Amino acid sequence: MTDRISSRAIRAGLENKLVGRKIVYLEQTTSTNDEARRLAEAGAPEGTVVVADYQSAGRGRQGRTWQAPFGSCLLLSVVFRPSVPPDQVQRLTMTAGLAVVDAIEERTGLHADLKWPNDIIIRGQKLGGILTEVGVTRSRVDFVVLGIGLNVNLDPVLLSGELISPATSLSAEVGRDIPRLPLLRSLLERLEERYLHAGTGNLLVDEWAQRLTTIGQRVAVTLPDGALQGVATGVDERGALLVRTPDERLVPILAGDVMVSA
Ligand code: BTN
Repeated sequence: MTDRISSRAIRAGLENKLVGRKIVYLEQTTSTNDEARRLAEAGAPEGTVVVADYQSAGRGRQGRTWQAPFGSCLLLSVVFRPSVPPDQVQRLTMTAGLAVVDAIEERTGLHADLKWPNDIIIRGQKLGGILTEVGVTRSRVDFVVLGIGLNVNLDPVLLSGELISPATSLSAEVGRDIPRLPLLRSLLERLEERYLHAGTGNLLVDEWAQRLTTIGQRVAVTLPDGALQGVATGVDERGALLVRTPDERLVPILAGDVMVSA
C-alpha cells in the first residue's frame, strides 16, 4: 500500500502551533536531514518539517544507510532552535524517542520501547531510529535537525543494508497496513507537546531511562577508539549510558554502538 501524503493533507487536522508551522513534502530527496539542514541554514523557522516518500541517500548513525521503499514508511526531519548548550542537545533525541513511542501506541495500540541511544524497538527488533544533527555557530546551537525514520508498511525481509540488529515494521507487528498520515500527525502533535513541556530538569531523562530496554543488560559497546563490555546500570543527566565494567569502573558512554549480550 502507498497511502498518499502531501503538505496539505498533513496540515489538515494538525493541532499544532509550532511543529509543522511550515511543512515541506518531497516525493523524493537525498535525505530529509539534508533538506532540513539546508532550510535551517537559510533561516527556516523552528518547527519546519520535511517529509519525503523516498530518500536516495537516507542515513543513520555511524555512517550507516537508511533504506525504505517508496511510500512505505515515515521519513521526516524537524528543525528546532532550542536555547540549550551543545551538550544538552541529546534531550531533543530523548523527546523525539518518547514522542514516537507515544504516537505508535496511540495509533496501533502497540507498546514500543527505546534502545540506547536512539533506536525505536519492539520485541527487541528495530522499528525505527532517530538521527540528530546540530548546527553550531560560535559554540552556540543555531539549529537542531531531528531526523526520524519509522518502518511502517514494510516487509522487514526486504531491508538490506548495514543492519546491526533484526528489523521489524508496524505492519509486520499488527498484520495489516497502517495509514501513515494519522500516525504522522500524532507524531508531530506528541513531539510538540513534549518539546514545549520538556523543562530543564531530570523528569525527561527519568522517563526516557524507564523506556530504555538497555538498562540492566549486559552490553558490548563499540566506541570510536575501542570497545568495552559490562552491565548498563543507568544514564546520567546528559543521556550518557553508564556501563559498569568487570573491574568496577563506571564508564559514561556518550556515543557508540551498544549490543546487548546474553
Ligand atoms: C539510526 O537508527 O541510525 C537513525 C536512522 C534515522 C533515519 C531517518 S529517515 C529521515 C531522516 N533522514 C535521514 O537521512 N535519516 C533520518
